Parts: sequence; structure tokens; C-alpha cells
Amino acid sequence: VDVKLDLFAEIERLKKEKNAILLAHYYQEPDIQDVADYIGDSLGLAQKARQADADIIVFAGVHFMAETAKILNPSKKVLLPDLKAGCSLADSAPAAPFRAFKEKHPNHIVISYINCTAEIKALSDIICTSGNAEKIIESVPKDQPIIFAPDRNLGAYLNKKTGRNMVLWNGACMVHEIFSLEKITKLKMRHPNAKLIAHPECEEPVLAIADYIGSTTQLLKYSQTDTAMEYIVATETGILHQMQQAMPGKTFIPAPPNNSCACNDCPHMKLNTLEKLYLCMMYEKPEILMDEELRLAAKKPMDRMMEISK
Ligand code: 13P
Ligand code: SF4
Repeated sequence: VDVKLDLFAEIERLKKEKNAILLAHYYQEPDIQDVADYIGDSLGLAQKARQADADIIVFAGVHFMAETAKILNPSKKVLLPDLKAGCSLADSAPAAPFRAFKEKHPNHIVISYINCTAEIKALSDIICTSGNAEKIIESVPKDQPIIFAPDRNLGAYLNKKTGRNMVLWNGACMVHEIFSLEKITKLKMRHPNAKLIAHPECEEPVLAIADYIGSTTQLLKYSQTDTAMEYIVATETGILHQMQQAMPGKTFIPAPPNNSCACNDCPHMKLNTLEKLYLCMMYEKPEILMDEELRLAAKKPMDRMMEISK
């Protein structure tokens, strides 16, 4: 017999049965966003995970996000639908060379973007996200030298915004470096009233022509409150789902990539599927498990971020 499962209904059932909360990042496929209890940017998701009082946190996102949830709320079982859902940016900062880099700059404090492993967090003084990075940097005295890791694009943008001269680790996100300035410029000519909104992980030439720069939540809010009717969106395509739902009368165009075979989907984020989500809730696997010493060391700079960005 051909028995088809209604995965949406099954996931809702498992949420209730197991007292689980489903958190999803905006870059998840639309089906996953539709079944989530909360959709957010990295900051919102970390705050939600910290407060969660369910028995299970199901994290539809990438590994560093689920790991962050475990760091902040260790008594909960934290599940990630696909353990291989990594992050090119987190991968661009391995612990051993980063430790050596830090030793070369002994009087510097380390501010790390949340898109990094627990090992890098443990080597950092404060964590930030794209939603609170300026505030975090401004909280540090002006004469205090800073290392910023791992994203060179976000770091360069923040240096410009805050007038600092932070030493940057040379890492980047594969998705946000894919956009073509030439194609965006041509698109802008064809859509003269469209505004370009961009994530700060994009490269400097794209940010230089953007009308607004912000985290995923900030881009979504801007597109809801701003008066333009058309937007070119320079970030991962998953965010367009919430934009279109919130503002059905507006047009959202994904910024074109430099290679016509490429796309703006994050291959890591998109490893999660509705089927994997269902199976992970059903079997309560894969689970994020952490060494307690590492967790505590990684929690310290996370707590500082939470305190400053209150
Ligand atoms: P935010 O959702 O915090 O803007 O981060 C974007 C991102 O690249 C997450 O991987
Ligand atoms: Fe990492 Fe970039 Fe994917 Fe975000 S979009 S998870 S930074 S690879």
C-alpha cells in the first residue's frame, strides 16, 4: 500500500509528544520555516535557545548554531537534522592556526563572529553576531587593540563603521562572496526603483552600493518598514520566503551570482530537509554532545555578548 506521511502533521505531533521546540534559521527551506516555532537570525536564535524550557531543542540550521544552543542551555537535548550541515565561514578558522595568530598579537582582545566553532569561541573574549556587532565593538575602549574573526568582509565593514583598525582573520562565507557586482549593477539599471539590501558578509564593492546593510532579521524588518516596492536581496535565498509572506505586494529579487551555474543557496543550510527533520525528531538523533570543559570556555564570551546586547 502506498502510505504517504503528512510530514507537517507528524512533526507537529512529535513536537507535542516530546515537548520539543523547533528553531529555524531564515536560510532553511520554506517548508521547514513553515513548521518552525521560531524563525530568526543568529542572535534571535541564540536568545531563544537560551530561554527554551522544552525538553528538546530541534535546531534547523547549521552545526555552529546548534552547538551554540547546547553551550547556552546544556540540560536540553539539542538535535540537528544533519550533522554534516557545517559552515564555510566556521571552517575557515581552524583552532590551531587561530591560536598561533592570537599569540602573534598578544595585547589584543578577540571578538569573534558567532559563525565559528566552540574551539574558536573558547579562544575569544566576546562573541558578536551581525545584528549586534557594532554595539559589541563600541563597548570596547577605543585604545584597546582587537582581533576580529573569522569573517574578513564583516570585519572590514565594521572597521569602516566604527573607525577601528581591528586585525582581521582571513575567513569568508562562500555564499556571500558569490555575488556579481556587474550583474547587480545591470539589474539595478533595469529596476531603477529597486533598493539593494545586503548582508554584511558580502564583499566591500557590493556593500558600497547597498541601500541598506544588516543581519537577516534587520533586512526583513527594513523591507517591511521601507517604502520601496522592489528589492534586490544580497544574501542567501531562504530569507525571501519570509519577505514575500510579510509583504506579498512587494517584489524581492535574489542578487545574481557571478557564475550562472552557481546559486545563492547555502549548501550547508540546505542539507536539512523536512524528511531529515522528521526522522531526527522521531529518533532523537543526531544529537549535539559537548565536552563540558570546552562548553564552559565557549560560554564565557557568549555570556559577555548576551550581557552587552541586552
Ligand atoms: P544572521 O542570520 O545572524 O544575519 O547570519 C547570517 C548567516 O550567515 C548565518 O549563517
Ligand atoms: Fe555559513 Fe555562509 Fe552558510 Fe551562513 S550562509 S551557514 S555563513 S556558509
